[in-house]
Amino acid sequence: MTKIYCFSLAMIVITMAFVLPVYADDVPPPAGWESVIPLLSTADVNNGQKVSHVCGSCHTFDKGDGQKLGPNLYSIVNKTPGQTEGFPFSDAMKARQDKKWTYDALDRFLFDPKSYVPDTRMNFFGIKKTQDRADLIAWLRTQSDKPAPLPKRQKSKE
Ligand code: HEC
Repeated sequence: MTKIYCFSLAMIVITMAFVLPVYADDVPPPAGWESVIPLLSTADVNNGQKVSHVCGSCHTFDKGDGQKLGPNLYSIVNKTPGQTEGFPFSDAMKARQDKKWTYDALDRFLFDPKSYVPDTRMNFFGIKKTQDRADLIAWLRTQSDKPAPLPKRQKSKE
């Protein structure tokens, strides 16, 4: 009996060891969040550009443009967080240098910045409408010398 108990316990510990590193960073999605991934290939980039105006008080998007309250966001898709030179990022953002701004990461961050990167200095409520967020991220993608490939995956598991 004890043997079976020990074995089950060991299995649980082993399973957690595999599962936890995957989810350690991935805070569970907040209520109301839906993945934009299935919408990206058909997103409306013109609307995305309009949506980006809410970011414009704090961010510039063109190549070589300077910083405002926030860093320049040229070529942000797949970039390493907290890397724009000369910008005083928060420790929370600097601690993410082993991550990338994948489509999923941007999707989660832009829905609710503080739930995805607690202690970020980006004081912004978030873009709650899934279609608007998809259009915005599809437009952000175009702001690059070499736009990142669109995700192949049609449905997010998250
Ligand atoms: C009130 C000002 C403000 C607004 C509005 C704002 N941001 Fe930010 N943003 C910031 C600040 C400040 C940072 C740096 C955060 C840190 O260091 O924690 C930041 C960081 C970011 C980053 C990470 C950049 C990097 O290089 O790692 C992204 C991506 C981003 N913002 C996207 C957006 C988008 C897209 C919008 C509009 C939907 C937006 N932000 C609206 C202030 C703002």
